Amino acid sequence: MMTKAAKKHFKELIMRANPQGKAPKLYVDLLKEHNILIAGSVGSGKTVFETGLLYSIFAKSSANDAEVYLIDPKQFELRHFWQMPHVRGYADTPEGALDILDRVESIREARSAYMKQHNLRVFNGSTVYLFIDELADLMTNNRPYVREFSDKLVKIMQLGRALKIKVIALTQQPRREVTPARLQVNFTCNVALHCRSAIESRQVVGIPGAELLPQYGQCYISSNGFVEHHYVPYITDQRTQELIDWYTKWR
Ligand SMILES: Nc1ncnc2c1ncn2[C@@H]1O[C@H](COP(=O)(O)OP(=O)(O)OP(=O)(O)O)[C@@H](O)[C@H]1O
Ligand SMILES: [Mg+2]
Repeated sequence: MMTKAAKKHFKELIMRANPQGKAPKLYVDLLKEHNILIAGSVGSGKTVFETGLLYSIFAKSSANDAEVYLIDPKQFELRHFWQMPHVRGYADTPEGALDILDRVESIREARSAYMKQHNLRVFNGSTVYLFIDELADLMTNNRPYVREFSDKLVKIMQLGRALKIKVIALTQQPRREVTPARLQVNFTCNVALHCRSAIESRQVVGIPGAELLPQYGQCYISSNGFVEHHYVPYITDQRTQELIDWYTKWR
């Protein structure tokens, strides 16, 4: 239970992180999407974008309302978030990634059974977010787990919608090997940060142009058949750390 003093402090913190006193609108709006692909060249701000989404989840939802799973093949992009009470699983190895997918899949099965039993059409419990920072690391080598990983991921993405299970994946390499068609069609929202070529831009948002964006700070977002240009709000490491410190102190 949050005390009055804790709530006040929390508000102040969010206020300082963002002068409007709330999580940036772009991220809050995007969290309503189902599955999101975020693509861009090295250093184009994919992790910054992902951190903005995570920050908005942490700022807007309690740990009972949002369950976050993190797959971090690069090992240092998301590690600091494991202390957040919302984060239920963190993996930085392929074996760990499969384990996380199994856990999310069991949640999906349990929710599906519950919905059938109670004759529901939409699940009304917490939202599960599965973040994958670098899909290419898990999809492009010839190890035996690649097929298993992509089969499980596709299943979660296809069947998670009514069950409030969302996947947010990042990639440096928007190519067919990384996002084969059966995966790509399940991303209802695609974000192209600066891309290396017009072909890559087209692969992500359906049109060229992301190759002309500055190195970071802007993107094209495609959703529902529309493509829009956006500036990317930046939440610094220091702001994120403040939020983490706050939670670890008050939880
Ligand atoms: N929206 C932004 N506003 C200001 N600076 C930004 C923004 N996005 C990225 N940067 C700067 O670019 C740096 C690299 O961003 P980031 O680590 O998110 O890139 P990345 O695409 O995840 O790179 P990699 O492919 O190596 O993982 C950041 O540390 C930050 O300094
Ligand atoms: Mg990154």
